[in-house]
Order: sequence, then structure tokens, then C-alpha cells
Amino acid sequence: MATLYEQVAREITQQIQQGLYKSGDRLPGVRQLSRHFKVSVSTIVQAHQLLEDHGTIEAKPRSGFYITTTFLERPKVPTISSPSSKPQLVTGQALVLNLVKATSRANILQLGTAVPHHNFLPVKGMQRSFSKILREKSEQCAGYAFPPGNADLRQQISRRMLLAGHPCSPDDIVITNGCQESLTLALRAIAKPGDIIAIESPAFYGLLQVIDALGMKALEIPTDPEHGISLSALQLALEQWPIKAVALVPNFSNPLGYCMSDERKKLLVEMANKYQTTLIEDDIYGELSFDQSRPCSLKHYDTTDSVISCSSFSKSLLPGLRIGWIIPGRFFNQIEYQKYVTNLASPTLSQLAVADFLEHGGYDRYLRHVREEYKNQVNRVIQSIGKYFPGGTKVTQPKGGFVIWVELPNNIDAMQLHALALAEEISIAPGPMFSATQKYKNFIRLSCAQPWNHQLEQGLIHLGRLAYSLQSN
Ligand SMILES: Cc1ncc(COP(=O)(O)O)c(C=O)c1O
Repeated sequence: MATLYEQVAREITQQIQQGLYKSGDRLPGVRQLSRHFKVSVSTIVQAHQLLEDHGTIEAKPRSGFYITTTFLERPKVPTISSPSSKPQLVTGQALVLNLVKATSRANILQLGTAVPHHNFLPVKGMQRSFSKILREKSEQCAGYAFPPGNADLRQQISRRMLLAGHPCSPDDIVITNGCQESLTLALRAIAKPGDIIAIESPAFYGLLQVIDALGMKALEIPTDPEHGISLSALQLALEQWPIKAVALVPNFSNPLGYCMSDERKKLLVEMANKYQTTLIEDDIYGELSFDQSRPCSLKHYDTTDSVISCSSFSKSLLPGLRIGWIIPGRFFNQIEYQKYVTNLASPTLSQLAVADFLEHGGYDRYLRHVREEYKNQVNRVIQSIGKYFPGGTKVTQPKGGFVIWVELPNNIDAMQLHALALAEEISIAPGPMFSATQKYKNFIRLSCAQPWNHQLEQGLIHLGRLAYSLQSN
């Protein structure tokens, strides 16, 4: 239970965050505040001290207390992670299914899953492609599109790979039921139960689930929210452990949002070659850069055909299509066969419709528009966090995609926040889901791909209040 002066300090902070005072404004005098809050002058003096300690206000001699200019500015970025340095079995992933089920509840504010609201998706254009394919190619739709998958779609994907700096033939590509399936096929083809897979930390929870389901071990590598996986830490790990593969999201990672520089990508591929480990790249956000440029794939630097590249249209077209792909390099035969024995083929209708949309639907125009939208959304959500969340909250500054990683003050438990928020119809993704050992207890990931409206702004204000309430428990 918070003491009286802590409660007063919290209320003053909230008033500032709600815009009652701006940075640089003078707070009312001690006596006026004591009358307003109906507390003693000494309680106000203690509250002032606490606010000064938090960097919310500053004293000016013989003048009073002023709101600091930095208080309402953008939150700082979290520092590099420091996960366990040993390979671990993955635990605690049952929570993910609950989170995913919560997304199907009506009226819930979906900040938890990285699924764009349909307002951001080219639903109409895809409708046109589906109708056209059903009209013109209904017979073809009725049959299987056996692996490696529909040729028109593979051709369209190979064209897009040119933009990612990896000229490849349609015959190098296998169509899958989404990126999650691509990751599963990749790991199943190259590793067996008990093998060690190095991953970035925090990592996309879907990858952790695949590692868990296949009985492998995850070795979390320290990762910088601005530059990506630490190459020096990875090198040490490669010297110490028999690492079968390194799996990561080098372009606009989920949840950190960084994009690895070209130089670091090249060094990473060279390091993987030197230590004879396989790189599994998840490039699902590669098309969603905020500065409109398409960063290159790790395959651009792959001189030995050893990188396995996985992706899908779930973030850049429609997640419900369930269409992804894998470029398996020298593991092509194993992976193509694994795809076949797993589910024979991916849906023919979806493949044909995506191929049509890529060729005639204005995909690049759509991407130019949605990248700008996501950039603005991410900025607005970060600003709101700066305004409405407890002081000391840190947030990543993604370069693309639409998720942000939020570090709350370390006395706030993300699982409790998740439970409280869900009870109030707000879904968030608690940090422990992003670690094999349920680290990141005071972190959450938020998706910013929800339309900016009253519900979203109120939801963020409310989430901030819930965070405050947990802080004072
Ligand atoms: C980094 C990453 N990889 C893979 C996936 C799963 O993609 P798909 O829906 O194509 O299976 C997601 C979805 O959230 C993701 O964020």
C-alpha cells in the first residue's frame, strides 16, 4: 500500500501526464497543494522530494518547483539484454495459446499479438484477386499445388528477392503455410532433439515454441535493441557450445525492431561459415521499413548457400492467407520433402490469389502507404507511453515493422499487468513469453498496428494507470 505522500506524488505525476501542466510550468505552492490534496504541508514536502528523485520536477531557488523539460520527452531505449549463458529447454510457452485465444474475443483492444488491424491490410485488392482467380482458374484451384508450390507465386517471390539483394530462381523456393511452418521445416531438416539453437534474446515466441516442440535447446544470446544480436557474445558461444543453428530476425526483429547493418550481416554470415553452423533467417518484416528502403537478406552475403531464409505474407498482405515460403539453399531436398510429408501442399487458391495480387494489385504502392502508416502509429504509441506510463519506462525505437518492446520499472510484474489488462479488455504480450527461461518479467511487447482512435488512446492511458497501480503495491 502506498504511503500518503507517494499517493500525492502519483496524482501530481498523472496530472502532468494528462496535460494539466506542461514541461517548464511551475507547480502551485506548497500551501495551495496541501489545501487541494487535504494533506499536511510536510506530506507535500515529502511528495516534492519523491518527484525530484524521479526527475519529474526540479527546484529553482526562491521560486518553487518546475516540471522538468525532459520529463515529457521520449522514453529512453532499453539496454542490451543479458540472458543465461547456458543452453536451456524452453519453458512456460502454454501462456501463448491463452494470449492467442484472447484475440478472438470481441471488442478487445489488440495490443498483444503482432497481427495488423484489417484497416491496414489490402483487403479489397485481395478480394479482387480472389474473385478473378475463382472466375478464371477454378479448375486449377480445385487441385493440389504440390511442393515446391505454385510456379506463378514462386516467380513473383523470386522477383521480390531481387529487392532483398538475393537474385534467385523460382526453383530455389518452397511455398509453405506461413513463416511459422518455414521455421519448423528449417529446424526439423537440420537439427535433432537435444541440439542447441542459438537465438536472439528477447526472441519471437513462435520460434521458442518450435524449439520446444522439437525437443531442442535454446541458447539465448545478448541482443542490443538498436544493433541486434551481439556478435562477440555469439562468437564466444560458438567457441563454447556445439551450436547447430543460429535463428534470428535480422530485419525489424520481433520484439526489438532493430535492423542489423549490412556490415554486421556480412560478419554474421562469415562467422556462421567459420564455425560451420547454419543460419536461419526470419525475414517476415523485411518489406516494412520506415524509410521505404528494402534491407538486404542474409542470403545476400551467403557464398556457400548455407543460409536458410524464411518468410511469409502474414505481415505485409493478410495473415489469414497462410502463405509463406522458404529458400532452403543446400537443404532444398530435405526441406521440400518435409513440407510434403507434413501437409502435402499449401492452399492452391491462396497461392494463386497472392500471385495475382503481386503481379497486378499494386503491392508496392500498398507497401509505400502502409510503411508510413506504421511509422506514424509507432511514434504515437511511443509518445503516449512517455506521457502515461510510470517514469523510468523505456521503449525501443524500431526502424520498421509495428511492434515495440517496453521495459517497465523493475517492480512492475508484466504477468500481473497482463492479467489486469485482459480483465479490462486490453491484450498485451508479457515479456516472459519472449525468453526460454521466462526472463523479462518487467517487459511487455505492444503491437502498434491498431487504428489511432479514442479506444486506443484511452487503452494506453488505462494501461499506464494499471502499471502505476502495480508499482505502488
Ligand atoms: C518474427 C515472426 N516470425 C514468424 C511469425 C509467424 O508468421 P506466420 O503467420 O506467417 O506463420 C510471426 C508472427 O507473428 C513473427 O512475428
